[in-house]
Amino acid sequence: MNSPLLQPYRGAALQLPNRAAMAPMTRSRADDATGVPVPIMAEYYAQRASAGLIVSEGVWPHRLGKGGPGVPGLTDRAQVEGWRGVTRAVHAAGGRVFAQLWHVGRVCHPDILGGERPVAPSATAISHGRIHTASGPKDYAVPRAMSAAEVAEAVESHATAARHAIEAGFDGVEINGAYGYLVAQFLSDSANLRTDAYADHVRFAIEVVEAVAAAIGAERTGLRVSPGNAQLDIVESDPATRYRRLLGALNGMGLAYLHVVESGTYAALEDLRPRWQGTLVATYDGPEPGDRETAEKALRTGLADVYAFGRLFLANPDLPQRIAADAPLNVPRGSGLYGGGAEGYLDYPRLGG
Ligand SMILES: Cc1cc2nc3c(=O)[nH]c(=O)nc-3n(C[C@H](O)[C@H](O)[C@H](O)COP(=O)(O)O)c2cc1C
Repeated sequence: MNSPLLQPYRGAALQLPNRAAMAPMTRSRADDATGVPVPIMAEYYAQRASAGLIVSEGVWPHRLGKGGPGVPGLTDRAQVEGWRGVTRAVHAAGGRVFAQLWHVGRVCHPDILGGERPVAPSATAISHGRIHTASGPKDYAVPRAMSAAEVAEAVESHATAARHAIEAGFDGVEINGAYGYLVAQFLSDSANLRTDAYADHVRFAIEVVEAVAAAIGAERTGLRVSPGNAQLDIVESDPATRYRRLLGALNGMGLAYLHVVESGTYAALEDLRPRWQGTLVATYDGPEPGDRETAEKALRTGLADVYAFGRLFLANPDLPQRIAADAPLNVPRGSGLYGGGAEGYLDYPRLGG
């Protein structure tokens, strides 16, 4: 019961009743034609309202940023209204929820974008693996390199979507700078071959954070990064130098938090924690779901202030109560992860139920 995960967190910008957050997880159940959230999504998030903080699934801030069928957006009124149903349900259940802004850049296909070509820092495609589209798996398309005007538009789209998120009732936004998507593409050596000002790999990330913070307040702005993560053909020649520089630029802005995913050979938390002056949310990503012991160790050693669980929260809507009771955990199932209805989504039992 005296788990550090159950202690309240009081940061300068972020106050939470416990330190067990729910990590962002794409579940692909929005209306595909419109990107509007549907009512089962409100129920899913409300079931998990006992999380210290919920970070929503990735949400597209720009029409060219959509990551797959059923991924919701935050670009128009109908999407804002749809999200209002979700945030109301979470708040009514006593929770807090940030929207994750997720522009996928080159991790896409024209079939997902109504025939338009995906955009990226440079015209280099992901060389292996396939992407899920409504008509089955497809090879990644060669993206179009963004013009300077399109880069500015992408930055601005994050600010507009952040305003929409606040209108929709979200408590803040998390910018997805992790896992090889657009912000991470700019941060990388493999996807960013630009020779203009964005040849400075950290510039796009900083501009997006500044634009979102200017739009909704730094205290409602978080950034997720996954230093050293090599998914989706990402190569970072020297993550320590690059991310130290990024943190140096963001320190002092008064952000809600920095969310660090540690997954590779680079010990990101150990290296970056002492260099980050604000709230740090941590997630370890490996083949097995991040577990309670690992999370508690990160909190006890000061490597993190808050720990975000992905798969364990997916399978255990009442994860904090289970931690408090030392109760066994439901095991995440493979079916119903992406798309579909209530199966694998709303049907994970609560304790005693
Ligand atoms: C079904 C699923 C969907 C995910 N979607 C996202 C996403 O939209 N944005 C993101 O930043 N991470 C996403 N992730 C990664 C998780 O947030 C988390 O970093 C990862 O699962 C490792 O944590 P865990 O071991 O606690 O699951 C997803 C993970 C899963 C399992």
